[in-house]
Amino acid sequence: MRKHVIAAIFCACSFSVLMAQTPIYLDDNQPIEARVKDALSRMTLEEKVALCHAQSKFSTPGVRRLGIPEIWMSDGPHGVRAEINWNDWGYANWTNDSITAFPALTCLAATWNPEMAAIYGKSVGEEARYRRKDILLGPGLNIYRTPLNGRNFEYMGEDPYLTSVMCVPYIQGVQKNGVAVCVKHYVLNNQEKWRGHIDVELSDRALYEIYLPAFKAAVQKGEAWSIMGSYNKVRGQHACHNALTLNKILKGDWGFDGVVVTDWGGCHDTYEAAMNGLDIEMGSYTNGLTSESKFTYDDYYLAKPYLRMLKEGKVPVSTVDDKASRILRLIFRTGMNRHKPYGSLTTEAHYQAAQEIGDEGIVLLKNAPVSKKTSPLLPISAEKINKILVVGDNATRMLNQGGGSSELKVKDMVSPLDGLRALYGNKIVYTKGYAAGRALYDHADKISQAVEDSLRMEAVRLAKDADLVILVGGLNKNHFQDCEGADRLSYGLPFGQNELIDALTAVNKNMVLVLLSGNAVEMPWVRKVPAIVQGWYLGSMGGKSIADILSGSVNPSGKLPFSFPVKLTDCGANAFDELCYPGDSIKEVYKEDILVGYRWYDTKKIPALFSFGHGLSYTTFAYGKPVVSSKKMEGNGTLTVTIPVKNTGSVAGKEVVQLYIGDEKCSVMRPVKELKAFSKIALQPGEEKQVSFTLSPDELKYYDDVKKDWVAEPGKFKVYIGSSSTDIRGTVEFELL
Ligand code: BGC
Repeated sequence: MRKHVIAAIFCACSFSVLMAQTPIYLDDNQPIEARVKDALSRMTLEEKVALCHAQSKFSTPGVRRLGIPEIWMSDGPHGVRAEINWNDWGYANWTNDSITAFPALTCLAATWNPEMAAIYGKSVGEEARYRRKDILLGPGLNIYRTPLNGRNFEYMGEDPYLTSVMCVPYIQGVQKNGVAVCVKHYVLNNQEKWRGHIDVELSDRALYEIYLPAFKAAVQKGEAWSIMGSYNKVRGQHACHNALTLNKILKGDWGFDGVVVTDWGGCHDTYEAAMNGLDIEMGSYTNGLTSESKFTYDDYYLAKPYLRMLKEGKVPVSTVDDKASRILRLIFRTGMNRHKPYGSLTTEAHYQAAQEIGDEGIVLLKNAPVSKKTSPLLPISAEKINKILVVGDNATRMLNQGGGSSELKVKDMVSPLDGLRALYGNKIVYTKGYAAGRALYDHADKISQAVEDSLRMEAVRLAKDADLVILVGGLNKNHFQDCEGADRLSYGLPFGQNELIDALTAVNKNMVLVLLSGNAVEMPWVRKVPAIVQGWYLGSMGGKSIADILSGSVNPSGKLPFSFPVKLTDCGANAFDELCYPGDSIKEVYKEDILVGYRWYDTKKIPALFSFGHGLSYTTFAYGKPVVSSKKMEGNGTLTVTIPVKNTGSVAGKEVVQLYIGDEKCSVMRPVKELKAFSKIALQPGEEKQVSFTLSPDELKYYDDVKKDWVAEPGKFKVYIGSSSTDIRGTVEFELL
């Protein structure tokens, strides 16, 4: 008996000794904050500083002595980028890093369907997890300010509300995999020209109402675990170490508990980086794309120079404790999270997700009959057609190559030509029509810009006896197109496509134009082309999605996330002088203020070529009268707006019902109307649904730059219900008491 008692006591003791030996930071059952505190308490100053800067192009060191792993990052946002060399920008030539390319974020935004964003995030997050990444560098949330910005294709359009709604499920989907997003580029990186240093000046209203909301939603609703500071300056200080945007707004007002990572080479000063909210410094002394340097990682601003300043007492140790705590928190959420799933790569489900997102994001801009006697050109009725001429470099081009850091190495890829051939077989004849050079994201001078007349003439010859011409054109991912590092040089289509369109429509009126781009383009020929489709960059399954839409096996339901101005100077950012865009090379002033996108066109009464929210369907929808649950809203109350919507055509379809609010009498200038809610509904032919939106005073507010707060001013408000921002189907008013 005594023996047993002694043995039991011995066992209990050794168990508790063992337990005591398991450090809290290694124990999954402990709360993350306790693990952070414990790990931090075990680290030397040198180890803490080491966490704060890169050890290679895409990783940071862990703490080897404590078994805390490195952080591995990858671009984003449309798929997981191929492996890059440890110490230079070259690709590592691994053979296991081919992935699924998902549609560009402009296309995701054009679905106006948060469920698509959830599937996107989940799928790309699974691929990142399988590739053993801890941080996926995306999504991009910068607002579309001018169609010249080379990087608009990586963002979600011109409206802060649409971007805010769409980014949240993407973020949650990625992070469920134990992979952090890195929301970028915070903030005011609205152009690529002079992106490394341009100093943006704007009003508080424009900052809070237009450029910050999506980042706020990402942090507060999406609970993003990291965010990337942008290259540019904001009010005189670099965005990667900016007292206002990082310390006050992000970490102070919004309570962000994650990690601020620089854009690659975005750090410029040790003291500011220490004091102004930067946590991890990446890519210093490079341009983030091509240029290298002789400096080593130890020379980074947050490496030895930081350690020195800490030791000399020039910056407080609390700064590095805060940075290291945030980085440890991210490591416990990702690399040291033992409960995360394993991920998967290039699965059927991922291809299906890519196709579905493409199907829902493609926008039918125009669909007119060729003559009074015929029906609209789309969908293609194959029985009547024997020869389809497909023209265009983009029909076969690998559009995942180029574009900058979002470039992808795809495992499988269905081009538009492949997709159409799979449906229409030998009815298809292909010719190039124009030449756009090889895929490259720098050195435009190396890419021939010459217009090749012989290609155009051959296309015209073949078009003469074709029943239908499908031109797959647009921009591509080369320098000065939709590409990081520079802006577009002009608003028009490149490579002689305008001349090509004129020549083709002169010999054959049955023409469908599929534009692949992440930006609006000028369309001087718009009246001559009966059917125009905005096909974005669609990734691995692009050709299938395009064939789905053109054939009508999927009814288009995408809506534009940005407006297409008739001409460049119609756009707010391009309506002023050079200081407004692109700046004088040092400074830039956002003179259009809060009137970005449709807010500008509406308020200034400038008709857009295609409006924000526009997108046609192969069916028609009838809207009934909007009804408001009460004509008065209490200062802290809510009310509901309900509209019946019916499918009045003969095929099933999806409609995006959009709700805008206007405040006609206000003590400050307000846009005519602003998007405040939307809902995408599916309707069978003849089916009707009631669509309801709940509104609160929050949807009525503007940012008061004197009070430094959001204000809803009592008085009348007008609700606009529309199928686009200009196709308004009903209005109703109420009063805020
Ligand atoms: C880009 C970032 C990207 C980073 C790493 C930079 O050039 O601006 O968006 O994540 O490089 O590739």
